[in-house]
Amino acid sequence: MAALDPIVEFREDHRKVRDGILDIFDALKSKDVVKARKILGDINTAVGPHFRYEEETLYPALRVFLGEYVDQLLKEHDGAIETARTCAQLLQKDKLTDKESEQAANAARAILVHVSNCDGLAILSERLEKKELNELAEKLAAARKAGVGLLEWAEKIRKK
Ligand SMILES: [Fe+2]
Repeated sequence: MAALDPIVEFREDHRKVRDGILDIFDALKSKDVVKARKILGDINTAVGPHFRYEEETLYPALRVFLGEYVDQLLKEHDGAIETARTCAQLLQKDKLTDKESEQAANAARAILVHVSNCDGLAILSERLEKKELNELAEKLAAARKAGVGLLEWAEKIRKK
């Protein structure tokens, strides 16, 4: 089976989100809320499977290295989801006040910080056994195939 490389794809997801967030900053700067909303929608679609894969598969696998720190990662996800929700709500309007625009940019920045932190897990994932990496590949592919966006996944599927 020609499976995907879970570490390469994991990092590729981060690059996509990073670029999307930077584009949101630009869109907000030029007061193009419609564009910012569209980009956030694309990010939501892309990171749903990513978050799901992390929580259902990657984090449990990394417990061998990280122990209880994994619980901290889950908490960080709570924050990232909340922030994404706030950002989506703000971008629902067609016009933002300067203050709202700043709030949206701050929310996007918090997601950017999360992306940067999360990418560090790649260096640990490299030390997992081949068998586990195959499992990660399978589960990442499955999460992508299911294709549930972040906010929908958080609301309907994610265990509290
Ligand atoms: Fe991540």
